[in-house]
Amino acid sequence: MTMQFNDETFRGDYSYFNSPAAVKRFPFPFDQDSYMYSVNIEQHPGGPKGSPFEFAFDVDEHYVAEMKDREITLAGDPMRCQSLPHMELAGWDLLELIMVSKARDYPELFKLTRDGNDWHWVNKPLGIEKRFTFLDPTTLPCGPMEYITRQAQGDFALLHEREGNLWLDAGMITSQADWSLDFDVGMNFFEWHAPVPKARKMGVFDKALKFLLAVGQDQSYRRLNWTMTVNPRLDTSPENYHKWGPEKRTVTPENVGKKQFLRVELQTFWRLPRSNALAFPIRCYLANLEDIASQPKWGRRLHRVLRDIDPDLAEYKGFAVNQKYIVDYLSQFDDGAETSPGI
Ligand code: HEM
Repeated sequence: MTMQFNDETFRGDYSYFNSPAAVKRFPFPFDQDSYMYSVNIEQHPGGPKGSPFEFAFDVDEHYVAEMKDREITLAGDPMRCQSLPHMELAGWDLLELIMVSKARDYPELFKLTRDGNDWHWVNKPLGIEKRFTFLDPTTLPCGPMEYITRQAQGDFALLHEREGNLWLDAGMITSQADWSLDFDVGMNFFEWHAPVPKARKMGVFDKALKFLLAVGQDQSYRRLNWTMTVNPRLDTSPENYHKWGPEKRTVTPENVGKKQFLRVELQTFWRLPRSNALAFPIRCYLANLEDIASQPKWGRRLHRVLRDIDPDLAEYKGFAVNQKYIVDYLSQFDDGAETSPGI
């Protein structure tokens, strides 16, 4: 398999783009014409060949550009990567999980050779070759979680389990939908979810936590979450709200198809072997309304979902301000046809 990596940016001139193949494999998250929060968890990996669900950690045409964007964000704000002292072992677990998975699933891009604890890692797209001793932090340039997540698309949270709860005690968070690791670090499952409307009362978080606590070794699961973002920006953090918040006001009926992006998060859950921590990778996919509408089923369905969504969710997800432009634009792709459940 050969993979072309896009020369693109997620800030400044926003030259990010999806190839036609990337649009086709976009993880469109709606299986019906309406949306409300639910515990939408299923087994991972596995799924259609070529889809983002096929492998443990999807690598696509945005890989190199996303890693560059992470580097820029971290240079401006090192607190986007934090690990409380007791989480170092979980960091090694995560490094192992990602290296083993990538070398297995993309052998033309990554190679891992292991002789006991002497490891040799080759990352061809990023031009990295590194020999190090597994579990010996002095042999890496930074902590194990930081080292491997500078080479893996998506954000990563590492959760420590105690007192029947999950605690957000480490993470690499540079492409988040308006939440802050620096604010949330050390919080538990209910505390960091407190700003989410409706879901707690609906029992979603009680059920979800129960499910996550029961995830065992060698099991992994996924769910999709989504929001809307103006411009293809990965770093929509509260810390940088002054940079991207005002951009919401640049949307017009003429440019909404190009500027307004559906932002889908492929979230996966992994129980880690030595630390018993839970890894929670959050992989972000961006497609603008033009891309979405190029698939007739998606344009029609997104129109209905966003037209009829609960106002509290539109407000929380931050697109209420442009909802009319978005819905008006999408309405041209809705022929009123009846749809059946499924994507
Ligand atoms: C939102 C973290 C698992 C449902 C969020 C937010 C964070 C977060 C930081 C943003 C809250 C804010 O506005 O400040 C996590 C972590 C998880 C996890 C670290 C792993 C343990 C889950 C699960 C569910 C879930 C299993 C299952 C239902 C939600 C929902 C939202 C949310 C519905 C609102 C999203 C939106 O409307 O865009 N989560 N979450 N989370 N989370 Fe989780």
